[in-house]
Amino acid sequence: MAADTHANNHVRIFDTTMRDGEQSPGASMTATDKLEIAQTLDAMGVDIIEAGFPIASNGDFEAVRAVAGVVKNAVVCGLSRAGVKDIERAGEAVKGAVRPRIHTFISTSPIHMKHKLQMEPHQVLDAIEGSVRAARNLVDDVEWSAEDATRTDRDFLKRCCEIAIKAGATTINIPDTVGYSFPEEYGALFKDLIESVPGADKSIFSAHCHNDLGLAVANSIAAVQNGARQVECAINGLGERAGNAALEEIVMALRVRGDALPYRTQIDSTKLTRVSQMLSRVTGFPVQYNKAIVGKNAFSHESGIHQDGMLKNNQTYEIMRPEDVGQGATHLVMGKLSGKHAFKEKLRELGYELSDNELVDAFTRFKDLADRKRHIYDEDLVALVDDALSHGADSIQVKRLRVVAGTDGPQTAEIDLVIDGQDVWRTARGNGPVDAIFNAIKAATPHEAQLELFQVHAVTEGTDAQAEVSVRLSENGRAAAARAADADTLVASAKAYVAALNRIMRKRDPRAHPQEMGAA
Ligand code: KIV
Ligand code: ZN
Repeated sequence: MAADTHANNHVRIFDTTMRDGEQSPGASMTATDKLEIAQTLDAMGVDIIEAGFPIASNGDFEAVRAVAGVVKNAVVCGLSRAGVKDIERAGEAVKGAVRPRIHTFISTSPIHMKHKLQMEPHQVLDAIEGSVRAARNLVDDVEWSAEDATRTDRDFLKRCCEIAIKAGATTINIPDTVGYSFPEEYGALFKDLIESVPGADKSIFSAHCHNDLGLAVANSIAAVQNGARQVECAINGLGERAGNAALEEIVMALRVRGDALPYRTQIDSTKLTRVSQMLSRVTGFPVQYNKAIVGKNAFSHESGIHQDGMLKNNQTYEIMRPEDVGQGATHLVMGKLSGKHAFKEKLRELGYELSDNELVDAFTRFKDLADRKRHIYDEDLVALVDDALSHGADSIQVKRLRVVAGTDGPQTAEIDLVIDGQDVWRTARGNGPVDAIFNAIKAATPHEAQLELFQVHAVTEGTDAQAEVSVRLSENGRAAAARAADADTLVASAKAYVAALNRIMRKRDPRAHPQEMGAA
């Protein structure tokens, strides 16, 4: 290996959930969402948080700036293309961070240079030098990326990396932008670059893999085995198209297979499930049940033979313990008679510190639920509190709902909404009860948003389980998703639709909701 930087076994975890992840259609996040996620990532030990692409919009700029203002330990990074305006905007957005970074990129493959950039290779080399120098004038920590590196001519890529290092880049990122590489190839690419690019020994080389062939995690690990000491990844593998390498999978692969992979991260893995669920709530993207590490079934044993083995010794079928990744066993927690103190303690155990007002509100909801549902599990509390926290400040709220459904139509819904403090009541028919509810909401608050996704799942087992409903709406190319939970599936549907509508409205006019822009 060329030098200390690559021989050192600390692998930096660079989280791009809020930048590449947010580029996933329908996964857009508000500044409030980003603040919550960033603080959780920081507490979990993520080394670098890429909070957005500041030139993309004022909302993105403000979100990155807000994240830079609250993160205590991690480096906060803003993405920029190679133009001076982009770089200045990124520099402005991250300048309040304790440890600011500008991440600038340009395409280097023949197909991208010709068709996307319409630039000659020598112009790209000039742009690399100019952009890295401009970024270095603003911050000490500059990352440079060769977009589409894995389809770039090898000698040209080496030249690009050399110029970026000479101009002052401290991290060199080699993305597999289109998810095309195989682990052996990607690993060999890192080995070659680190051994032959002048100045490579003073730089951190970084992997950034997309999952188009399902190889993003395998490729990232191959890069680490060949000298990469930063891995760019996203919670739940969120990202463009098929997504980025999943953060939780990289972290646990390095931990569980320490025998074969003698590297370490500084991630507190017990927070992985919590942050995965938080992201799923914010984006409305469900976590697939069999998702590695954080899926609901990742530690479930259904067949008799497996259950028998587990009872004898859990290492028969488990290579890590559920508690290592923050997946607790399902506990029966509380009932109708539980008091506020026990409730508060339970929430603290689940990772929630609520303000007094939030606690009163959550406790009222809990009592309400306990009246309707005999057994209340940890999952019920998580759904209930997440629901209260995410919809508390919405300007449209569901107050009351009555639905007539069944075999003998027409199905009708009567809804009472509170819109900016005013009661608005409407009734509508529909093709089924959910359609009737959504029509009634549209009648109460006319809008052009289209329903893109409607999904229901049960929070726990049993017919009295709470339903968790995800809704995604889109309007003029802007999408917003939201989730809501209730023991009544139709009430959860109405709440989820209204929550997504509130989000769309905030995107229409962010100035009307300064707290969403980080200006509060
Ligand atoms: O996939 C990619 O190439 C990127 C770069 C902007 C780093 O996301
Ligand atoms: Zn990417």
